[in-house]
Amino acid sequence: MDYFKRKKIKDILYNNISREEYQDIVVLGWVRTKRVSKNIAFIELNDGSTLHNLQIVFLESEKFPLDNISTGTSLRVKGYLEESEGREQSLELKAEELTIIGDAPADYLLQKKRHSFEFLREIAHLRPRTNTFGVINRFRSKLANVIHSYFQSRGFYYIHSPIITTSDAEGAGDLFQVTTLDLNNLPLSEDGSVDYSSDFFGVKAGLTVSGQLEAEVLATALGDVYTFGPTFRAENSNTSRHASEFWMVEPEMAFCELDEMMDIIEDFLKYLFRYSLEEAKEEMAFFNKWIDNERIKILEDIISADFERITYTEAVKILEKADAEFEYPVKWGIDLQSEHERYLTEKHFKKPIMVTDYPKEIKAFYMRLNDDDKTVRAVDCLVPKVGEIIGGSQREERHDILLKRMKDMQMDIDNYQWFLDLRKYGTVPHSGFGLGFDRILMYISGMSNIRDVIPFPRTPGNARF
Ligand code: 4AD
Ligand code: MG
Repeated sequence: MDYFKRKKIKDILYNNISREEYQDIVVLGWVRTKRVSKNIAFIELNDGSTLHNLQIVFLESEKFPLDNISTGTSLRVKGYLEESEGREQSLELKAEELTIIGDAPADYLLQKKRHSFEFLREIAHLRPRTNTFGVINRFRSKLANVIHSYFQSRGFYYIHSPIITTSDAEGAGDLFQVTTLDLNNLPLSEDGSVDYSSDFFGVKAGLTVSGQLEAEVLATALGDVYTFGPTFRAENSNTSRHASEFWMVEPEMAFCELDEMMDIIEDFLKYLFRYSLEEAKEEMAFFNKWIDNERIKILEDIISADFERITYTEAVKILEKADAEFEYPVKWGIDLQSEHERYLTEKHFKKPIMVTDYPKEIKAFYMRLNDDDKTVRAVDCLVPKVGEIIGGSQREERHDILLKRMKDMQMDIDNYQWFLDLRKYGTVPHSGFGLGFDRILMYISGMSNIRDVIPFPRTPGNARF
């Protein structure tokens, strides 16, 4: 199939091939458009390596089998490269041989007209071939790669936390259950509850909501670690920023306190923004033109300013004084709703903010208790439009205080003995956070629905494809 011989269109258009190779070029790709006039024809060919198409020129066009070619047809073309006259500093391929690999009949849905994002979600198997979803998927790959680079170059080890787990890290009860029991014939204990001893793992198991607890295990052995993988939440929130399966980056640092971690968060996010502006120019130019005209400026402004850092208590004071009608009334102790988060970051500060020291009642069991006995060393990073992109905390490293809190929350202590052991043997202050990968993609691209930055989104009522 000339897999190794062919040139990728990205390399041709970005001048990554030498002049000696110009005479003998093979490309493989899909037709975007075809234009035929007397004696000459043009095809815009896309091979997925870049947003941009290669122009193929057919001189003496009647010699080529062009009639059966339409949008979506897959082709092999052999020819030679020449500077294109029409376009500045660009190359076009003068065709010598044309092979049709696969037809695309006229009912192919991706003709030239623009489709709505809602419609494209219905054809998630074809939408990667559109400009927008090509760009999104290439950018997803690049951003994932650069996240690894950030941590690897700073001495963090990439660890794999389990997907199947018996602990609910966030304690929110959002676990998807994993079982091989016959749901039509469940084994029951004497009290009528399901008897899991005959289930596959011998206990009730589920899909992980977070790799954090296992990351703490590795951090208290290797120092600095991070996970980067899929996480699952059976929360019934049908919003534009919740998915039931999403990817999370979870760094965990031993000997690190909350303020130090906030410096890492800010440095990390700015690194991703800088990378996007400097190294993913094709994608950023596309987002800025087609998705949100402010994107490049917003990212540039963020890089050059400090993130705002405030406590939850200060945030509540701002909200109480705010000149805005909130659906959920504000008072100290409430969980901040997305309308409150948006007010703070979009209206009040107009930039990313980090809110710390939330009431312990609304946060997870593992967060470090402050001396006031009321708040914990939590941090949420909020950004305009998307809201929360990062949640994290300094961890409770004092054995007895953690144990008391777990008991107060009526957790099954036996099941978390291993987690308590980390505090029993050589405990250290440590901190970590989780970045929602899909949400940072939304933020950088300006895409407004999480369903459009994940190739195959899973949301309540939808697991198609
Ligand atoms: O705030 P969360 O629930 O924190 C944790 O899971 C901690 N264990 C992280 C840690 O400290 N290691 O989730 C972290 C981030 C959120 O800020 C959000 O960006 C993203 O994960 N997230 C979701 N993204 C998409 N869909 C959902 N349903 C999400 N839930 C959380
Ligand atoms: Mg959170």
